[in-house]
Amino acid sequence: MASVPTMSDPPPLGTGVRLDFNGPLSAARADRLALSLAGRGPATVLDLGCGWGELLLRVLTAAADATGVGVDSHAPDLVRARANAAARGLSDRVTFIDGPAADHATGADLILNIGAYQAFGDISAALSVLRGLVNPGGRLLFAAEFWEQPPPPERLARMWPGITAADCDDLPGLVDRVVAAGFRPLRIETVTRGEWEEFESGLAADAEEWLLANPDHEAAAELRSKLDNQRAIWLRGHRDLMGFAYLTLG
Ligand SMILES: C[S@@+](CC[C@H](N)C(=O)[O-])C[C@H]1O[C@@H](n2cnc3c(N)ncnc32)[C@H](O)[C@@H]1O
Repeated sequence: MASVPTMSDPPPLGTGVRLDFNGPLSAARADRLALSLAGRGPATVLDLGCGWGELLLRVLTAAADATGVGVDSHAPDLVRARANAAARGLSDRVTFIDGPAADHATGADLILNIGAYQAFGDISAALSVLRGLVNPGGRLLFAAEFWEQPPPPERLARMWPGITAADCDDLPGLVDRVVAAGFRPLRIETVTRGEWEEFESGLAADAEEWLLANPDHEAAAELRSKLDNQRAIWLRGHRDLMGFAYLTLG
């Protein structure tokens, strides 16, 4: 049976309400990384640019003696983070701080910086700051994009406005960069096409569902155009060209 159309307001784009992580990351990879990082028994975990903190919460679940701090400048994500922490009985072991990561960059045994190097400028600037924060013997899980292949100009033109080939390294270049910053790469892993598909489809899913239910709403045309553009950036732009690496660093 067709669903009954509603004339609700359109959902805001990009909130990630249908996603577990605000980036390409499967639950299986997240749980494996969380277990592995927790296995070293960190007492303190700091997630800089935590979003709604799902990976931080999974690490704290796996590391029962650890306390954690997540920092992000997007307040709605922190509301979600605190609610998820409460639902899992973690509120007494985690604090979510609303603010610039650079203002709350303190030392920790385990630091997470996932898709959020921009909080410190570029990748080199972020690695330089993060190198000074990891306690002796500690770990950094650093995740960032890289080029799977050199992006041709016609594909770059289909991506986000202003992006250039110089904005990312290739994977060897990215790993060289973390080594130059003083880290050793303990584990180098890159996401699958399926993780990108989950992420990109999940980002659009609530708005696409709303469009189906509200095709004649006055906001539908604008939302449809934005979704078409967002999808083109992925399918005609960065698909199979942009990779995303999870680097476990010591
Ligand atoms: C791609 S999201 C990744 C979120 C999270 N790490 C995850 O993987 O689900 C990047 C996050 O960095 C945050 N961010 C960007 N600049 C920031 C800054 N200067 N200080 C704190 N957070 C920042 C954004 O608000 C966003 O939540």
